[in-house]
Amino acid sequence: MTTQNNRPDSVSVRVPATAANLGPGFDSIGIAVDLWSELTVAHGPFEVVIEGDGADVLPRDEGNLVVSGARAAYEARGAEFPGLKFRCENGIPFARGLGSSSAAIVSGIVAGFALQGDGTDPEEALELAAEIEGHPDNVAPAILGGCQIGVKNGGGWITSQVSIPDDLHAVILIPDFVGETSEARGVLGDEVTRADAVYNIGRAALLANALSTGRLDLLKHATEDRLHQPQRAGIYKGLNTIIKAALTGGAHGAFLSGAGPSVMAFATEHEYTVAYEMTEAARLHGIDASTRVVRPTTRGAHLIESPGDGAN
Ligand code: HSE
Repeated sequence: MTTQNNRPDSVSVRVPATAANLGPGFDSIGIAVDLWSELTVAHGPFEVVIEGDGADVLPRDEGNLVVSGARAAYEARGAEFPGLKFRCENGIPFARGLGSSSAAIVSGIVAGFALQGDGTDPEEALELAAEIEGHPDNVAPAILGGCQIGVKNGGGWITSQVSIPDDLHAVILIPDFVGETSEARGVLGDEVTRADAVYNIGRAALLANALSTGRLDLLKHATEDRLHQPQRAGIYKGLNTIIKAALTGGAHGAFLSGAGPSVMAFATEHEYTVAYEMTEAARLHGIDASTRVVRPTTRGAHLIESPGDGAN
C-alpha cells in the first residue's frame, strides 16, 4: 500500500456475516459470526470485480452496495467521489439472511473513509449504513462485532453490546435458494396485537439476560418470536420443523436468521448433531441446504494490510 498525504492508494477491509432479528429482536438485535467477506478498493478507473458468493448475480455497476457505501463515506466528508476499483471476495453467503448486503455497505463505508485518510467512527458508520439499509440489526454487529442491540432515537441510533458466553457456537442451516428481503418484509402486517408485543418484549429482555449471564437454558424461550417468524414461516416451508429439529439435536435455541432463508441455532455441544438434524428436517421439506458451524465474533469490520492476513 503506498500513501500520498496519508491517503492510501488502496485499502482492504474484512467484514463479518451477521444474523439479524435475533429471536424476538426483530429489526433490533443482531449478532456477528466468524464468516467473512473482503473488499479491496484502489484508485483507478471505475470497476467492480466480484469473486465468491453471488458473483454470478451481483451488479458490477454503481448499483453494487460496496459502491453505495464508499460513496456515502465521501459524501459525508463533502468530497468528490473519485474513480475507484472495487474487488469483492465474498465469503458471506449471498441473500441467505446472513447480512451480505450490510457487509457490502459497511465494507464500502470503511474503505471510503480509509481512502480519505480517515479512520471509521463507528457511530457515523452506523448512521450512514443504517440510512442505506433501513434498519440497524445487521449493520451494527457488522461494524462493531458481537451481539448488538440497536434502537432508533429520533434521527440517530443507539447501540449496546450484549456479552456472549465463550463456548457458544452458531450452527447455521443455509438453504440453496436465495431469499428476497422485500418479499419477506411484504408478508409482515403493519400492526401487532398487545399480546404479541408483550410476548416479544419479555423474550427480548430474557434473551439479553440469558446471553450475558450464561443462562443458556433460557434460550429455548428467549429465541421465540411472534413478530416475523410465524408470518415468514408461510414463505419458508419447514421453518418450524427445522427449529424443532435443532432443539431435538441439542441446540439451546434456534431462529430464522434475518429475513431468511437461513436458520441459526445456538449450541455449546453436539453442534454437528444439531447440523445433521436441521439438514434432515430441511430435506423432508424438499429443501437442499448446507450447514456451517461457526463461533460468534466480537470483531467487527476492520482494515487489513493485505487480503488474506486478517484472521482473528
Ligand atoms: N430486520 C430485517 C428484516 C433484516 O427482517 O427484514 C433483513 O434485512
